[in-house]
Amino acid sequence: MVMEKVQGRGFLGVVFLVIVFLSVSSGEAQSRSFLVNCGANSSVNVDGRRWIGDLVPNDNFTVSSPGVAATDSTANGDSLYRTARIFDNGLNYTFSGVQGNYFVRLHFCPFPIENHNVNESLFSVVANGLKLLADFNVPGEISDKYLPLQNSNSNSSSLSLVKEYILAINDVLVVEFIPSKGSFGFINAMEIVPVIGTLFADLVRRVGGSDANVSGRGIETMYRLNVGGQEIKPDQDSDLWRKWEVDSSYMITADAGVEIKNSSNVTYASNNDSSVAPLLVYETARIMSNTEVLEKKFNMSWKFEVDPDFDYLIRLHFCELVYDKANQRIFKVYINNKTAADNFDVYARSGGKNIAYHQDYFDAISAKINTLWIQLGPDTAVGAWGTDALLNGLEIFKLSRSGNLAYGDRIGPTGKSASHLKSWILWLGIGAGVASALIIAIACTCIFCFCKSQRNEMSNTKDNPPGWRPLFMHGAVLSSIANAKGGAQTLNGSVAAFTRVGRRFTLSEIRAATDNFDDSLVIGVGGFGKVYKGEIEDGTLAAIKRSNPQSEQGLAEFETEIEMLSKLRHRHLVSLIGFCDEQNEMILVYEFMANGTLRSHLFGSGFPPLTWKQRLEACTGAARGLHYLHTGADRGIIHRDVKTTNILLDENFVAKMADFGLSKDGPALDHTHVSTAVKGSFGYLDPEYFRRQHLTEKSDVYSFGVVLFEVVCSRPVINPSLPKDQINLAEWAMKWQRQRSLETIIDPRLRGNSCPESLKKFGEIAEKCLADEGRNRPTMGEVLWHLEYVLQLHEAWMRTNATETSITSSQALEDLELRVAEDAQRRPSSLDEDTVRPRHEG
Ligand SMILES: *[C@@H]1O[C@H](CO)[C@@H](O)[C@H](O)[C@H]1NC(C)=O
Ligand SMILES: *[C@@H]1O[C@H](CO)[C@@H](O)[C@H](O)[C@H]1NC(C)=O
Ligand SMILES: *[C@@H]1O[C@H](CO)[C@@H](O)[C@H](O)[C@H]1NC(C)=O
Ligand SMILES: *[C@@H]1O[C@H](CO)[C@@H](O)[C@H](O)[C@H]1NC(C)=O
Ligand SMILES: *[C@@H]1O[C@H](CO)[C@@H](O)[C@H](O)[C@H]1NC(C)=O
Ligand SMILES: *[C@@H]1O[C@H](CO)[C@@H](O)[C@H](O)[C@H]1NC(C)=O
Ligand SMILES: *[C@@H]1O[C@H](CO)[C@@H](O)[C@H](O)[C@H]1NC(C)=O
Ligand SMILES: *[C@@H]1O[C@H](CO)[C@@H](O)[C@H](O)[C@H]1NC(C)=O
Ligand SMILES: *[C@@H]1O[C@H](CO)[C@@H](O)[C@H](O)[C@H]1NC(C)=O
Ligand SMILES: *[C@@H]1O[C@H](CO)[C@@H](O)[C@H](O)[C@H]1NC(C)=O
Ligand SMILES: *[C@@H]1O[C@H](CO)[C@@H](O)[C@H](O)[C@H]1NC(C)=O
Repeated sequence: MVMEKVQGRGFLGVVFLVIVFLSVSSGEAQSRSFLVNCGANSSVNVDGRRWIGDLVPNDNFTVSSPGVAATDSTANGDSLYRTARIFDNGLNYTFSGVQGNYFVRLHFCPFPIENHNVNESLFSVVANGLKLLADFNVPGEISDKYLPLQNSNSNSSSLSLVKEYILAINDVLVVEFIPSKGSFGFINAMEIVPVIGTLFADLVRRVGGSDANVSGRGIETMYRLNVGGQEIKPDQDSDLWRKWEVDSSYMITADAGVEIKNSSNVTYASNNDSSVAPLLVYETARIMSNTEVLEKKFNMSWKFEVDPDFDYLIRLHFCELVYDKANQRIFKVYINNKTAADNFDVYARSGGKNIAYHQDYFDAISAKINTLWIQLGPDTAVGAWGTDALLNGLEIFKLSRSGNLAYGDRIGPTGKSASHLKSWILWLGIGAGVASALIIAIACTCIFCFCKSQRNEMSNTKDNPPGWRPLFMHGAVLSSIANAKGGAQTLNGSVAAFTRVGRRFTLSEIRAATDNFDDSLVIGVGGFGKVYKGEIEDGTLAAIKRSNPQSEQGLAEFETEIEMLSKLRHRHLVSLIGFCDEQNEMILVYEFMANGTLRSHLFGSGFPPLTWKQRLEACTGAARGLHYLHTGADRGIIHRDVKTTNILLDENFVAKMADFGLSKDGPALDHTHVSTAVKGSFGYLDPEYFRRQHLTEKSDVYSFGVVLFEVVCSRPVINPSLPKDQINLAEWAMKWQRQRSLETIIDPRLRGNSCPESLKKFGEIAEKCLADEGRNRPTMGEVLWHLEYVLQLHEAWMRTNATETSITSSQALEDLELRVAEDAQRRPSSLDEDTVRPRHEG
């Protein structure tokens, strides 16, 4: 009955089967633990907790059918595991009065049972409609390589297997055990323990892309390691009863990292973190061996077997135990050979020494991959002082897709016959210790085919193939874009850029524009997919971003981006021309920015240097775009990733901000920089944001200040090849600016070609932007205002220098300052971009 309700709600294809809505909700649900000693008459005390025998009727849960209670006659197991409930038919455990997020742990500890060969058990488990296990076999002898979460608090020689899930429960939890046709299943114990606090945030940073929303997904714990330390037993982990394994057996080269430990004074940054992991996890760590050697050319690598074709949440736990300042240990994090983070400085991120810190990453594992590699290694771009890495703990969680967490259920049919099945399974039991994941995959495929042909009643989620919902969830947004159909809009008489309004393209139009997605037209690749340079039929050049159909999360981002871009239209923001949502495609069409990034015109590429005037115009353009973002939309939008690679230049060198909306879960617009988003941001990051973990518009102002220094100095914001005090441009430039001698380090090509007064003012603006505290920094509107002034100073200087008129430049300046002061009375309070613009046109 509960299931039917759940299925009825499955039509959206959204994973929300976990939550069961019952019309008769008691409202008295509360956080309670349920510890069930299955197949037992009596309760036992294990771990200091009381496990209730399920043969005795009780108020706390019901069992739908008796099954067979079995007791291990050899009696050498843990008292909890000496009994089991065996089932040849379906069996339901129903727990009521359960509200919130729970750990659901299933304990399996096979022992010889009369009439049943435990090696041949085969069954599925479904919790509130979410499939946890499909055609699952518990091998008679559990090898420690087979599955990770054993419970070794048993004295018996046969280890138990514990499968752990994290589920959101609304009032009632029904755990269904369903034996596969002709087979049976068993369960030794069940543990339902409330999750204290909030373990997971909705948004998780995707490796090489923008955030993924993981809200509402069912979770299975795959691995949980106390890196560099001892095993942590469930009773050592506060009230959550998690087990933390030793990590060394997962390391590729065990001696790549040495263990360190310091248990004094390790604390949580906030009380909220106390349920994330016990302090014991943070008190030990693994760092790279041989720390005396400056040149470190290896990674610490861990390798895990995972189920293909699922999304994973990887949680890394860190705590700096040694250094008491930042910049001592800076490294890169790789997940499956992709850079998940670089310039990773635990001290800076956690806000100090001995402070617990964790970082989550989201990565989708494709159908062909069955391993997950986590690697930490030197960040060679940072220089000699920061090449050591550190890791304290590691967790890997599998996320449900389409109401399913079970691996076997997702494998497509192949031609294996049923007779192979049993031998494969037996083989799995025998050789589990060495069985490669490939074999597991084949076996599961067989199981799947076998069972699919014989049994249909179980599958309840296959009708919703992982795919994309039709796009009309944001119907209003889309139709508002589509209705505009390229029509011109004029706002306050502003310029032509406003006429570009989104329209809906057909797929054939997109194919024509991109030569059928010809790879030679690819101008960038990112987490979201590829970006092509294309020409739409009226001859307009466009950047066409085609999302990778593999990514399930892509839809939300696609919708967000359209929604964002439809709200934000501005001459200094890269604009959306249209989109295509035909045939499950998610394609966005942007205006093409012919001159690429601002950075590429500052240094490191063959382009001719920009003049001071061009640089000032680019800065004012970008400042306008940011000012609009901060004040223009319904609510202020923080860009979060202001840097010279996110400032694009069109054919007339008009600067436009790209990649905005990162803060709103929008995918990166400028894909080529997505993968390096963290890196690019490093030299630009607001230190106050680090300290307070609180993001404001003033963080963008800080980053923009760094951009200003980069523009005037023409060098990367981080250049590790320079002497130590020069590596970080923000520090280096501020040092000179404070002495009022920034001109010493400016781009030599500007000397003599720029108004000295304007350079001076420009330095002052940048300095103000880099104020330590956000409240001492100017707003973007003020920055914009001052930049306008600087531009006017320079233009006046150019006119006097070029025409050698009789008035002295200081007279010209006085005139100008007067005019500027007048204009200041009319400073923009609204968003109309054109209220702020140069007042003199020659
Ligand atoms: C349960 O208790 C009864 C007697 O109270 C006993 O006969 C029976 O064998 C017990 N069953 C199990 C499975 O322990
Ligand atoms: C039900 O659970 C409560 C605690 O959650 C426990 O005190 C009580 O003894 C349990 N009832 C039975 C019949 O086991
Ligand atoms: C278990 O519960 C599900 C729905 O909650 C129901 O469809 C099924 O028939 C139940 N099975 C048994 C054996 O009671
Ligand atoms: C299950 O397989 C293991 C490994 O081969 C074997 O040692 C054990 O005896 C088997 N158990 C049963 C009940 O057949
Ligand atoms: C394991 O055995 C030891 C003594 O051999 C005993 O003290 C301990 O309680 C046992 N642990 C469990 C979980 O049964
Ligand atoms: C994540 O998605 C859920 C619905 O699936 C939504 O309620 C929630 O607001 C989203 N969170 C964020 C931060 O976008
Ligand atoms: C452990 O940390 C404390 C406080 O940070 C420090 O004083 C002590 O020297 C450290 N011990 C070791 C062995 O590093
Ligand atoms: C540990 O923390 C306390 C309080 O924060 C501090 O007074 C003490 O000096 C610290 N000890 C060490 C060794 O750092
Ligand atoms: C801690 O959690 C509470 C409520 O869950 C929240 O209001 C508060 O902002 C959190 N504090 C921190 C530092 O995250
Ligand atoms: C990552 O690199 C290692 C070693 O180079 C390789 O064995 C492994 O297959 C790669 N993993 C992925 C997911 O590409
Ligand atoms: C570390 O691992 C990453 C990802 O597999 C790889 O690209 C990089 O070359 C490795 N670094 C070293 C020093 O081996």
